[in-house]
Amino acid sequence: MTLKKLVAGNWKMHGVSADLAEVSAIAEAAKERLSVDVALCLPAILIERAVRAVPGFTIGGQDVHFAPKGAHTGCVSAEMLVDAGATLTIVGHSERRDAQREADADVKAKAEAALASGLSVILCVGESLHVRDSGSAVPTVDTQLAASLPADPHGALAVAYEPIWAIGTGKIPSVDDIAEMHAALRQRLISTYGEAGAQVRILYGGSVKASNAAEIFAIRDVDGALVGGASLKADDFLPIVDAAARI
Ligand code: PGA
Repeated sequence: MTLKKLVAGNWKMHGVSADLAEVSAIAEAAKERLSVDVALCLPAILIERAVRAVPGFTIGGQDVHFAPKGAHTGCVSAEMLVDAGATLTIVGHSERRDAQREADADVKAKAEAALASGLSVILCVGESLHVRDSGSAVPTVDTQLAASLPADPHGALAVAYEPIWAIGTGKIPSVDDIAEMHAALRQRLISTYGEAGAQVRILYGGSVKASNAAEIFAIRDVDGALVGGASLKADDFLPIVDAAARI
C-alpha cells in the first residue's frame, strides 16, 4: 500500500524571528505540492508566531511533556502546544533520549498525552553505531518501538526510523538496510494495531538531502522523511519535498 508521503523538518535549537521568512517560503511552496504532506517542527517559542505567519500550514513542536500541567520547569505540555497552534509534535528524538535520558516508557507516555490532546505525533526510534556494527540493529530498534508505541495510534501517529549515527553526519544506511528496518517496523505496527498499523507512516531520518532523497523515497515502506539540517532553508528543503512528490 502506498501512503501519502510526509516530509517534516526538525529545526532543533535553530531559528529566531528572522528565520520566519524561511517558514513562509516553505509554506507557500507546500501549497503547490498537495501530493505531499509538509510540516515544520520548530522551537516552542517560535510556534505561535509561525502559525500566525502561515495559517493552515502544519507547524509542530519537537517534544512534549507527558503530564498535563505541573511543576516541570522548562517543559511544554500538549495543551500548550495546541494553544499555540501546533498540530503535531515529535517525541522520542534520540537527542532527547540521550541528553534528557528519556526511556521508552516516557516516550510512550508523551505520545499518548499528545494524541489525547489532538496532536499528530512523529515517534522516533533508531540504533547507535555500536548496535549497528554488532549486527543487532533490527531487533534493537524493534524492541525500542514496541516499548514506545502508544496504546492507540488515533489515526495520527507516524514513526521515524533515525539511526543515531546517521543524524547530522552525512552518512546514511544502505538501501537494503533501510528496507530491512522499515519492513520490520511495519510488521511491528501491524502486530500491535492490526489493520491500522498499515496506515502508520514510517519516515526515514538522518542526513536526508536533495541528493539522496529520491533514492530513499523509492524504498518500500518509506513513507516520508524527518529532516534536520536540510530543513532550515527553503532552498535545501523544497527539493526534498519535490523528490517525495515525484514518487
Ligand atoms: P539531520 O537530522 O537531517 O540533520 O541528519 C535529522 C534528525 O535529527 O531528525
